[in-house]
Amino acid sequence: MTSPLGIIGAGAIGGTLARLAVAAGLDVIIGNSRGPETLADLIDELGRHARAATAREVAREADIIVAVIPLSAYADLPATELAGKVVLDTTNYYPQRDGQIQPLDDQDSTASELVQEHLADSSVVKAINSIAFASLGNGARPAGSPERSTLPIAGGDADAKQRATALLDTLGCDALDIGPLSEGGRSEPGTPAYCDPYMPAWPTEPLPTDELLAWLLSAPVVPVSTEQLRSLIASAERGPAGGYFPETL
Ligand SMILES: NC(=O)c1ccc[n+]([C@@H]2O[C@H](COP(=O)([O-])OP(=O)(O)OC[C@H]3O[C@@H](n4cnc5c(N)ncnc54)[C@H](OP(=O)(O)O)[C@@H]3O)[C@@H](O)[C@H]2O)c1
Repeated sequence: MTSPLGIIGAGAIGGTLARLAVAAGLDVIIGNSRGPETLADLIDELGRHARAATAREVAREADIIVAVIPLSAYADLPATELAGKVVLDTTNYYPQRDGQIQPLDDQDSTASELVQEHLADSSVVKAINSIAFASLGNGARPAGSPERSTLPIAGGDADAKQRATALLDTLGCDALDIGPLSEGGRSEPGTPAYCDPYMPAWPTEPLPTDELLAWLLSAPVVPVSTEQLRSLIASAERGPAGGYFPETL
């Protein structure tokens, strides 16, 4: 990659992606909603291959950008600056966080189709939405490793999907193309491929939030092969839209 990897959103999964990217030798430009000055600690940690910017600057300066924001904020993605770019969309629909989104509740659309509608002149690839940030961060492995995992990608632009696959490869995982964005629902919350296959079984007793987070961060990663993922994706059935955060998280 000649331009830096752009990341819009610097929270749990955006920060994890930035760490993986820098560790893989990429330059990173990352932004959030509150402004670059609020990312000083993260940039200190990441070192000289990362810098903070506004979301618009991230969109302008990178050719491939990962959108790592709550779905409720998707209309803030800077469509003009993102025109002509590849945008990896990690968003998932959680009504508790995002509020009710009618076209999703009515099953007229999927999360990434809404993002593509907003970013009409970009090539949106749904990616990195179905693995928890800790599994992503702990699970990166070099190509060919038996412990390497496969993640689903979906989108309407074959070239963009190829670039998303190359980026995932660099970050330490394989990609399985599951079709157009309309099929992206097969990797959304509540489906068999969503997050759990990459983790050991959840603790059987309820834990306070800090202990649950500590468990999540240290849980060993369970690799999911391409064949396993293919079968999980094929078994997905469309249920009610959206996921649900347990009260203890
Ligand atoms: N956490 C996971 O394990 C995981 C896994 C897969 C997919 N996802 C999905 O990825 C997305 C991000 O999840 P997360 O857990 O990383 O969330 P998070 O920790 O809450 O971080 C969200 C980030 O988005 C930024 N943001 C919010 N509104 C924005 C806007 N309008 N413009 C620019 N930046 C904005 C926030 O910046 P400010 O703090 O400045 O507002 C923050 O840096 C969600 O859609 C989630 O469902 C999460």
